[in-house]
Amino acid sequence: MLNAPEFYCLFVSYTAGAHTLRDTGDNELMPSSALPWQRTAAGANLLASNGDLSVTIFEEITTLAAKHNAINLGQGFPDTDGPEHFKQQAAQGVLGDKNQYAPGSGIFALRESIARHQARFYGLTVDPVHEIVVTTGATEAIAASILAFIKPGDEVITFEPFYDSYGATIGLAGGIHKTVMLNAPDFQPNLNELRKAFTARTKMIVLNNPHNPTGATFDKDVLAEIVSLARKFNCLILSDEVYEHLTFGVTHIPIATLPGAWERTLTLSSVGKTFSFTGWKVGWATGPAHLVAAVRTVKQFLSYSSGTAFQPAIAEALDSPTEFFNNFAQDLAKRSEVLASGLEAAGMTVYRPQGTYFIVADVAPLGFTDAVDLARKMPEAIGVAGIPLSVFCHEEGAKQTKTLLRFAFCKKLDLLTQAAERLALLSSKIGN
Ligand SMILES: Cc1ncc(COP(=O)(O)O)c(C=O)c1O
Repeated sequence: MLNAPEFYCLFVSYTAGAHTLRDTGDNELMPSSALPWQRTAAGANLLASNGDLSVTIFEEITTLAAKHNAINLGQGFPDTDGPEHFKQQAAQGVLGDKNQYAPGSGIFALRESIARHQARFYGLTVDPVHEIVVTTGATEAIAASILAFIKPGDEVITFEPFYDSYGATIGLAGGIHKTVMLNAPDFQPNLNELRKAFTARTKMIVLNNPHNPTGATFDKDVLAEIVSLARKFNCLILSDEVYEHLTFGVTHIPIATLPGAWERTLTLSSVGKTFSFTGWKVGWATGPAHLVAAVRTVKQFLSYSSGTAFQPAIAEALDSPTEFFNNFAQDLAKRSEVLASGLEAAGMTVYRPQGTYFIVADVAPLGFTDAVDLARKMPEAIGVAGIPLSVFCHEEGAKQTKTLLRFAFCKKLDLLTQAAERLALLSSKIGN
């Protein structure tokens, strides 16, 4: 075990290394002495500057929100559960005979239902026997996919800001995390920057579409460029589509539907966001049999299987009429608009999302220069909590997103209205 000063050096060199890596393509600076958990923590920005595990800003803001009884728009989970009859079905599973291990790949009825879902919404033909594996949330699918294919020193590209579990698992695998920045106002990648990020060492690009935390979705041109680069550099595409049904006025395009993509793409989704059951933690990966077999092999020794009682209920949920999915997205879009108007009325610049649970707002027009500092003050001062976007970034990206905050709108309408009223008081209550 490294002591703190030793680790401090390690962390600093790791951080510096990551940045130098981005500039020069040199991967020799990756500290070989870092323990896997330390690489995991560093990858998700969870290390304090002294090398200790830090309290995440999520935890800090949640604690402040609870202390000051603030409306917590920092955390991305709905405050209303999904449909009652699916809950009843899961409860019956527990009270009945759905309490033992499910098959490692998931119950067949769920895999068949996932296959029907992919066919109905995207025209994809997926074999439920060989091309689907059910996982413990999308989180396990992310981890199993990265651990299955990334060796120490391999490069993995994600967009930045990035969902923390990508950085964590790339670190755990010993990979090198390279990023391509998504900047306001539209949070679309610069395709030249994207091209420059690929090298002979790139083994995977992790796409998150729709994108947490920015709320962006990526159109066919961006997706086609990713496929073309992945083919040119012979690397895999890991496409995290957990917000696939949460889009507002845009049609979700799974990258696996593009020509030349299927054979190198693992597509992930989960029950959490689509059906408002984030605590059920059932997800899945779909893709060609050889990729799914590799993910299944790793996943087998992470959890083997989970959520037996939930799986039949999810199988039925995925067969819901298309109207169910559309209504849910429309309802969420309304909530997004209530919050967006509140943030605008407060004087922020609002970047309206095309999907997800999240909206990004810039506090610079109000004269604030540091969103982290503001996020710490807001729970007490106005009774609303949000998360600074910089926590989803590396050091350089954190500078570029210094005045941006992320707010979740997957909350009850009256709560959002109340939050909007409180936000209107922001500049009068917090001077800058
Ligand atoms: C982009 C993204 N991927 C994956 C997940 C995790 O999904 P699950 O809860 O199914 O593990 C989340 C949850 O916030 C997410 O935002």
